[in-house]
Amino acid sequence: MKNKIKPINQEIIMSDNDFIVSKTDPKGRITYCNRIFIKYSGYKESELLGQQHNVIRHPDMPRSIFYLLWQTINSNSEFFGYVKNITKSGAYYWVFANVTPSYSVGTEKIVGFFSVRRKPDPTKLLFIEELYKKILAAEQNAEPQHAVSAGTKILTNCIEPTGKDYCEFILSL
Ligand SMILES: Cc1cc2nc3c(=O)[nH]c(=O)nc-3n(C[C@H](O)[C@H](O)[C@H](O)COP(=O)(O)O)c2cc1C
Repeated sequence: MKNKIKPINQEIIMSDNDFIVSKTDPKGRITYCNRIFIKYSGYKESELLGQQHNVIRHPDMPRSIFYLLWQTINSNSEFFGYVKNITKSGAYYWVFANVTPSYSVGTEKIVGFFSVRRKPDPTKLLFIEELYKKILAAEQNAEPQHAVSAGTKILTNCIEPTGKDYCEFILSL
């Protein structure tokens, strides 16, 4: 299901002590979300279970970031990133997310994914918002089939001079 919610310019700021948690099956369908997830998203639990996380995808989020997320978790690594989400009413809330694969005990078989998100540091968000705007613009100026590579190029150009990889870069902000 694609998200058709119209964004409104209303920010919901996460509380310092909240953790937004969800789990998915290997295809990314939500199998569990905690009360805090439900509270921020504005949906009922029954509207979330079985859905993809793109129910809360905000149109300001670059495709390249989600491409990197899936590439990372499908190659057995953990992903860290700043994500702007949209609520059922169209408001937005920023999170700092960690996403990891879950395995069947004793095997390398991915049985699902797991995400925990907390309140991002607002000073870091100023930088991220600018970066995401540049990535989004590059994606929008490219042909759809080249959007992710155009966006990824902006991200790479930003990180490469630091000598860090994406994960180190994000955690060093
Ligand atoms: C465990 C897990 C948590 C995710 N959390 C979010 C999230 O909070 N917000 C979001 O927009 N996408 C999240 N995603 C990524 C979505 O699956 C999806 O790739 C993204 O919303 C882009 O949707 P689209 O490819 O349909 O445009 C998550 C994925 C996984 C596996």
